[in-house]
Amino acid sequence: MQFEPLKNDRLLRAARGETVDRPPIWVMRQAGRYLPEYHDAKGDRDFFECCRSPEIASTLTLQPVERYAGLIDAAIIFSDILVIPQAMGMTVEMVDKKGPSFPEPLKSPNDGQYEKIMQKQVDVKAELDYVAKAITLTRTKLAGRVPLIGFCGAPWTLFCYMVEGGGTKLFVQSKTWIYKYPDATKALLQKIADICVDFLALQVAAGAQLVQVFDSWAGELSPAAFADFGLPYLRHISANLPQRLQELGLEPVPMTVFAKGAWFALDELCDSGYNVVGLDWLHDPAEAKQIARGRVTLQGNADPGVLYGDRAAITKTVETMVKGFWSDKKGWIANLGHGVTPFVDPDTLKFFFEEIHRLTQ
Ligand code: CP3
Repeated sequence: MQFEPLKNDRLLRAARGETVDRPPIWVMRQAGRYLPEYHDAKGDRDFFECCRSPEIASTLTLQPVERYAGLIDAAIIFSDILVIPQAMGMTVEMVDKKGPSFPEPLKSPNDGQYEKIMQKQVDVKAELDYVAKAITLTRTKLAGRVPLIGFCGAPWTLFCYMVEGGGTKLFVQSKTWIYKYPDATKALLQKIADICVDFLALQVAAGAQLVQVFDSWAGELSPAAFADFGLPYLRHISANLPQRLQELGLEPVPMTVFAKGAWFALDELCDSGYNVVGLDWLHDPAEAKQIARGRVTLQGNADPGVLYGDRAAITKTVETMVKGFWSDKKGWIANLGHGVTPFVDPDTLKFFFEEIHRLTQ
């Protein structure tokens, strides 16, 4: 695939641990409901219909890049982590004001649904071709302005959605599975991990220049359970993706892991085969930098809630990040500690970006 040369490669250089003039900046969920232009472009279309339309997905991906031109250094493809469960044969609906919902979650290993999912051979290329097409079209439209990030959900987080049937506070089903049916859980996690490798390779082949694995629910596991049900599958992805890319004749791309809430595992995550480790806002920047000891680039980690605060609060948060992460002009990608939330004023987010620029000059 031939695309225009990259004019801004700050993100890729920082991810590889190289020195950069200033930290690259982007934020998780930078395309989304807080932007009025998102609602205009989406209209009353279904969320997954937008993901499946390369034209709409690329338009939504570009919105923050255009609004914040010169301030941010990456685009992230408009899609969702739940496209993998869909490709595996599960129905997922996005319910307005409620979030994702699976009408038929996996109830137990003895339930016919589990057998069916385990037996289905998933043709990732065919099932998720629409993501590949959206990535290629977005790369073309970006014309080298900033790099394009591809992503997938981590096996543990996707597993939780598949057994809970949606968001949850108690994780009743997930905990029942890991503590009652550990072998069946691991078999499913492994199947998901293999699909993640295929899917990320497909995204790179289509034009993704860095990939991020979102383990949003890692923090629901104890350190011991994370060692059993989280980390091995994150490692499977980082160990196998480079090999898969090589088989396909593709150059390796930087890989990021974001295991939200797994602050206890930061040291291990720094040795898990990823170039970048994403941090949520529970980490103190300076302490995290000390634990990482230069092994990886850190990404994060302002509390997204600070965007509901005033300018002084934002400045203070950015100062703490800059002081903790930015001592040697490398090893930091500025971001929030989780996605931008609805009702954030886009101009407040702009101020957050401007403060990072000002304080790292
Ligand atoms: O970051 C980006 O701008 C790229 C797009 C992106 C979306 N989802 C779009 C989206 C990415 C990277 C995701 C990842 C994702 N999806 C995660 C991991 C990151 C995280 O937040 O922890 C998770 C857990 C999901 C699952 C999901 N999708 C939930 C729980 C929800 C509903 C709640 C919410 O925050 O909106 C979604 C819907 C979703 N995904 C929307 C967007 C823009 C909102 C859809 C709408 O209502 O219009």
